[in-house]
Amino acid sequence: MEEILENQKPDKIPPTGNPLIQIRDMRKIYNPGENEVRALDGIDLTICERELVAIIGHSGSGKSTLMNMLGCLDTPTEGSYMLHGTDVSDMEDDELSDIRNKEIGFIFQGFHLIQNLTAVENVALPLIYRGVGKKEREKLALKALEKVGLANRLNHRPAQMSGGQQQRVAIARAIAQAPPIILADEPTGNLDSNSTREIMQILRDLYNEGRTVILITHDNEIAQQANRVITISDGKIISDVMNN
Ligand SMILES: Nc1ncnc2c1ncn2[C@@H]1O[C@H](COP(=O)(O)OP(=O)(O)O)[C@@H](O)[C@H]1O
Ligand SMILES: [Mg+2]
Repeated sequence: MEEILENQKPDKIPPTGNPLIQIRDMRKIYNPGENEVRALDGIDLTICERELVAIIGHSGSGKSTLMNMLGCLDTPTEGSYMLHGTDVSDMEDDELSDIRNKEIGFIFQGFHLIQNLTAVENVALPLIYRGVGKKEREKLALKALEKVGLANRLNHRPAQMSGGQQQRVAIARAIAQAPPIILADEPTGNLDSNSTREIMQILRDLYNEGRTVILITHDNEIAQQANRVITISDGKIISDVMNN
């Protein structure tokens, strides 16, 4: 961990300029008709390889809806979404799940770990569904846990770890197969300030390695640690600012 915390060097890798995410006039309308909610109301957004982006907005602004779209967990009512060159806006569930497995590592506020599995088992589990053999699963899980500074907690279960450690296991699970995109919804929402710093540093490290990290938050202090801050309000992007 110390190594990670001391690694505060400025980020030098420029974005490649190759678009990973291209969203055009995306709308998501819940309950169409009289009581409709325009959760996303005409979103245009391009995110390239090697970006560290925060999406910030108040409660109810549409952040989780946008995360569900970005992560191919749901499909829009209208608009197009090109993800890594593939049009995913009209895909069926099984196609979407293939894309998710290949392209995206998810991190959630509540960790979503399985309580009766150890750290290494939690990280290896999704690899089973991706057809990775046992030996390789173990190797990838160990490597990912080492990367988040948990080589000494391999056989701990979630209840035997702090919140920050549990979130690090969840990050290891997300990165085990090196997806190009890391999508994190309020990843530090349940954590104290020390653990928050650790998690943010790990996300920066992943970015420094060349991944695209998208961080969804309602916390401005967290958002300002990203290189680009996109603000949404009432389902619309109201500002999009580069931080350095
Ligand atoms: N499944 C749903 N059905 C109907 N309305 C929803 C649903 N999910 C979210 N909403 C509404 O869409 C808007 C945006 O919600 P959400 O994306 O969860 O915002 P945030 O994550 O920023 O708090 C809110 O008005 C919310 O009440
Ligand atoms: Mg939300």
